[in-house]
Amino acid sequence: MEQTEYDYLKKIAPEPGNLIKGLQAIQAREGYVSDDDIRAAATYFSLAEVEVEGVLSFYAQFKRNPPGKYRICVCDGTACHIKGSALILDWVSTELGIKAGETDAKKLFSLETVACLGCCSLAPVMSINGKVFGNLDRKATVKILKEHRKK
Ligand code: FES
Repeated sequence: MEQTEYDYLKKIAPEPGNLIKGLQAIQAREGYVSDDDIRAAATYFSLAEVEVEGVLSFYAQFKRNPPGKYRICVCDGTACHIKGSALILDWVSTELGIKAGETDAKKLFSLETVACLGCCSLAPVMSINGKVFGNLDRKATVKILKEHRKK
C-alpha cells in the first residue's frame, strides 16, 4: 500500500496520543487494520510497530482480519436495545452460524455490533455495508440475509 493512500490520516495530528483515533479512521475506511496499516500508522504517529500492535490487541474494537463481502452491523444502542437488538443479533448469528466479531468461512458475511447507527426511530436496526434496515423482526431479518446470500 502506498503512503499516499493514508492521506486521510492528515486530518489527525501526527502525535502518538492520537494513535487510537488514527486506527479508528483506518478501520472505518477498510473494515480492519492490516499489516500495511500498522506500518503506516507507526510511521505517521512516530511509534514502533510493536506499540501499534499492542494497542490493537488490547482494544476489542479493532479487527485484524478483512470483513466478509457483506458487513453486518447490528445496532445495540439504547433505543435498539430496548426494542430487542439482542434477539436480532441472535437470529443473525443463528442464520449465519457466526458470532459477533466473526466472518463466515466463505468470507461472505461478517457480523458486529455497533453503538448507534443514527436512525433510532427505526429501531431495532441493522446495516449491511452501510445500508440500513429498520423495524426488524425475525421474518424480515432472515429474509434480508437470504436475499444477500443469493446475490
Ligand atoms: S440506538 Fe440503534 S440506531 Fe440509534
